[in-house]
Amino acid sequence: MLSERMEKALNKQINAEMYSSYLYLSMSAFFERIGLKGFANWMRVQAREELMHAMKIYDYVHERGGRVKLSSIEQPPSEWKTPLDAFNAVLNHERKVTSMINELVDIALEERDHATYTMLQWFVMEQVEEEASAKDLVERLSLVGDDKGALISLDLELAKRQFVEENE
Ligand code: FEO
Repeated sequence: MLSERMEKALNKQINAEMYSSYLYLSMSAFFERIGLKGFANWMRVQAREELMHAMKIYDYVHERGGRVKLSSIEQPPSEWKTPLDAFNAVLNHERKVTSMINELVDIALEERDHATYTMLQWFVMEQVEEEASAKDLVERLSLVGDDKGALISLDLELAKRQFVEENE
């Protein structure tokens, strides 16, 4: 059984993952609007991944006999100055999510909740990947600078990203 404190913290994380999904969907719409369909695709896949993260915790809370309590999702921004600006926002957001996951791990340890601690290790490693891929795109977009040709070729590359359903 989950402690009240652990359950509350996991519900907060479900909301944070839903917000991440909403944020990236908003970025996808932004890229669609400025004609960068490959970037839009990358963000759309990312939004689906975030929804999967939320559902992973949602299912886990139920599995532990806890209560899922959904709360309102904050409105994300809808405008960024440049693609680089959007990806800097992704990187900052992912760093914030990493610190939220670390806090959850701290709570699991304090509550001596070993099952939740183990479940969270997946998220700890996922955050390493999430930060690395955002950082990679920030660096590549910095190199692209004002070169439209390089931007189009990056757009073509990002168009190839596909959502991979997780099998547990
Ligand atoms: Fe679910 Fe991008 O962290």
